[in-house]
Amino acid sequence: MASSTATPDFNKALYAPLGEIDPEVQNIIDKETWRQYSGLELIASENLTSRATMEANGSILTNKYSEGLPNARYYGGNEWIDELELLCRKRALEAFHLDPAQWGVNVQPYSGSTANFAALTALLQPQDRLMGLGLPDGGHLTHGYYTAKKKMTASSIYFQSLPYGLDPQTQLIDYEGLAKHARLFKPRLLICGASAYPRDWDYAALRKTADEHGAYLMADIAHTSGLIAAQELNDPFAYCDVVTTTTHKTLRGPRAGLIFFRKDGEKNKDLEKRVNDAVFPACQAAHTTTYVLSSSVVSTVLTAPQTIAGIAVALLQASQPSWKAYAKQVVSNAGALADELVKEGYKLQTGGTDNHLVLWDLRPLGLTGSKVEKVGDLLGITINKNAVSGDTNARGRAHGRALPAPQRAARAAPAEGGGLEAAEGLFVHAERDGEVRVTGGAREAQCAGRAAAAHLEQVLLLADGPGAAVGEVPDALLDEVVDILEGEWVRLNSICGTGALT
Ligand SMILES: Cc1ncc(COP(=O)(O)O)c(C=O)c1O
Repeated sequence: MASSTATPDFNKALYAPLGEIDPEVQNIIDKETWRQYSGLELIASENLTSRATMEANGSILTNKYSEGLPNARYYGGNEWIDELELLCRKRALEAFHLDPAQWGVNVQPYSGSTANFAALTALLQPQDRLMGLGLPDGGHLTHGYYTAKKKMTASSIYFQSLPYGLDPQTQLIDYEGLAKHARLFKPRLLICGASAYPRDWDYAALRKTADEHGAYLMADIAHTSGLIAAQELNDPFAYCDVVTTTTHKTLRGPRAGLIFFRKDGEKNKDLEKRVNDAVFPACQAAHTTTYVLSSSVVSTVLTAPQTIAGIAVALLQASQPSWKAYAKQVVSNAGALADELVKEGYKLQTGGTDNHLVLWDLRPLGLTGSKVEKVGDLLGITINKNAVSGDTNARGRAHGRALPAPQRAARAAPAEGGGLEAAEGLFVHAERDGEVRVTGGAREAQCAGRAAAAHLEQVLLLADGPGAAVGEVPDALLDEVVDILEGEWVRLNSICGTGALT
């Protein structure tokens, strides 16, 4: 029988590019690409990952099941995946300057939430006691959050949790209050790290409290891991037993998580096994399984080798000397922005920042974070609302606004005058005649200016009465927008210094 090498019709779809097979999805991706590059992405938990990382993450590795650990898999054909995972682990330890005799790492968690729940599973028994920074004070859901009415997250459903908080005067972590409550609560685990805390941590003080109760100390450095790798912030590894992180925030990798665990010390001698077992099979299993974690449904699809490849690439980048310069720029941009805002009389949580984010308390302006977030959207500037300490509002209408840094530094060359550079994306120069300008320099900033101009023109048209061009925007919001543009928002322009605008 004659053999044919022709590709059967049913397989042709395997080799055609996305744009040909599915123009609808391609078009959505194109629109999102344009949104990301024409606007300014200033969400503190997001970043722009590298092309190399995206290539690895979109590679043929996506075809492979690799349940288990290197050299102990449940499927055959994993020799290259094993090599990849071992390389990724090695790079993770190198990126954070860790001695492999003292530290190990599991690179399989899908996300920060799953990494955290796996870490809790490894460290605690059900109903053991833990303490984490309260969500309203900047902590994360997965650090034991609950409300008076509801245990919101797996970390409070399966464990007893008592939050610690901030000093109401300074908005800094109240380490003394924490130590005092720990004496009553006697936690088995202390969690530090946050989603919206602009200052560095005193890990030594936390270790002291943990030691008083024979407790584990875990740092969730999801937000700051890129800055910690660059040694721009205090080192949690010097004090903690376990460190978790996401890989897609300041670390600039694909969307996933890592769990670092200590291998030395009596208490930690079987931690490697406990962490590995907690990740798989305790928390991540076969692809039909769905878990409810931290109030969101997470569908698990086993360890993803393509993501591990992306993490490995990102970690290589985070180990280069240029990474330090990047991290320095992130911190300096955020610091410059904070300084300028404070100079202008605005209120920031803690009065400034040590890291990549600025938490702006909008309450004195009579604004909510959700409104200003929408105004930002209209201007092509993507920001996010967040609770600020003492906020009585629900999260969706929180009064704070978490501001930039990682992407801004990822894109633009540092300019002279850090304050100006840091503020350029945020403070669009808006005048009553509809002219919109941003400080020049980076191509992206110019694009952002154009995008902002288009949006703002519509808003201003409406402000002038007859134009009513912005159909989708609710009237009430538009009224707010106009007020903001005419009031505080425009006043911010002076931060940029009018003379410097081009
Ligand atoms: C401190 C902290 N931990 C964990 C997470 C959860 O990460 P993921 O969204 O990857 O589940 C976040 C995410 O926002 C975070 O800020």
